[in-house]
Amino acid sequence: MTDSCRYLCGILILFAAPAIAQEANYDEAQVGDYVLPDPLVLSSGEPVRDAETWRTRRRPELLKLFEEQVYGRSPQRPAEFAWEVTSVEPEAIGGKATRKQIDVWFTADKSGPRMSLLVFVPNTRRPAPAFLGLNFNGNHAVHSDPGITLNPGWFRNNPDAGYVDHRATEQSRGSEASRWPIEMIVSRGYALATAYYGDIDPDFDDGFQNGIHPLFYEEGQIRPAADEWGSIAAWAWGLSRALDYLEQDADFDARHVAVIGHSRLGKTALWAGAQDERFALVVSNNSGCGGAALSMRVFGETVGRINTSFPHWFCQNFAAYNQHEERLPVDQHELIALIAPRPVYVASAIEDQWADPRGEFLGALGADAVYRLLGTDGLGDGPAEFPGENTPLSSGTIGYHVRSGKHDVTDYDWEQYLGFADRHFAR
Ligand code: GCU
Repeated sequence: MTDSCRYLCGILILFAAPAIAQEANYDEAQVGDYVLPDPLVLSSGEPVRDAETWRTRRRPELLKLFEEQVYGRSPQRPAEFAWEVTSVEPEAIGGKATRKQIDVWFTADKSGPRMSLLVFVPNTRRPAPAFLGLNFNGNHAVHSDPGITLNPGWFRNNPDAGYVDHRATEQSRGSEASRWPIEMIVSRGYALATAYYGDIDPDFDDGFQNGIHPLFYEEGQIRPAADEWGSIAAWAWGLSRALDYLEQDADFDARHVAVIGHSRLGKTALWAGAQDERFALVVSNNSGCGGAALSMRVFGETVGRINTSFPHWFCQNFAAYNQHEERLPVDQHELIALIAPRPVYVASAIEDQWADPRGEFLGALGADAVYRLLGTDGLGDGPAEFPGENTPLSSGTIGYHVRSGKHDVTDYDWEQYLGFADRHFAR
């Protein structure tokens, strides 16, 4: 490219970028009419009137649509996996918890990628119910504890937080700690288990050459087929493999594991919880487009926009709905419905309009009928209206709140999740 050409491209990008940004609609009055698919009507048009029909016909049908059209089909649970406890610190978090680090491979012979699991188990409660979630910045970022191994993998550059040349430096320790109030979690009697999402699949578009995908390619296959898993599905699959580990560690009450995630990892937590019914509770924090927010509202981030910015997140078939959300055979309320009758909590932040808080609420509300068909109280007795800021609707089996402030995970959010888990895990 000549210099003048580069200059011209620069100008074009400069003008094009705001134009793309302006495409997002943030005006409720501009949300057009849309007809949401009814989770309680089979594709044949027959109504779903009982739990049996939901369970044996409608749920499998919806699961298949999300697999083939949205996130992509994932491989089965591997017949065997290998793990190794690499460190144990019985006096972590001021003596309140035992910290363990475990390397998990997805094959018996330890070939292929390795996920490092970091767990904190309260010293006062064994086996402990747990929250399991992937982190963005590496395990070493969730707490400044110098005993946590610094992740050697690929990271997005962020020099201010200590990520340089795509690697984590010592300075990055604790850089994500505000989102993981470990002391609060263990003091409330819950264990925390977390892993770096990049251990499963580094978050950039490399045509699926790194991460977990190649381990499952057929002879001659070089990338997932159009209906096979993208990165979100791979991360969700990794969460299920972390649960495989927790199931055989006596420190955990594996029948009471809540899967949690923020933002792209909130989308991931929902998809993990929808597919893997061993997750007893699901928390989606600010998950937005492709998470809890209804796509058909076309508000904030859209299907076309997310598939363009992050072409590796969903399966290739999902791109057919770019600028054509109305053609989708499913919408995200049905993803939440797949979690029923297990408790699910959807949380928004009012300044996070990109994630469409009202659309996230409507996603939760749209699952209510399925929760009720299955004998639960759904969203509870509260009004079926978008609530005010910091007014959680959390008495039912579907919880929802919109917090004041920005796209983030805060102590306020965790307080709601812990209270919700207390109510549903009461034994
Ligand atoms: C971007 C993306 C969102 C995503 C978020 C995140 O904003 O557009 O879909 O949820 O990143 O994961 O932080």
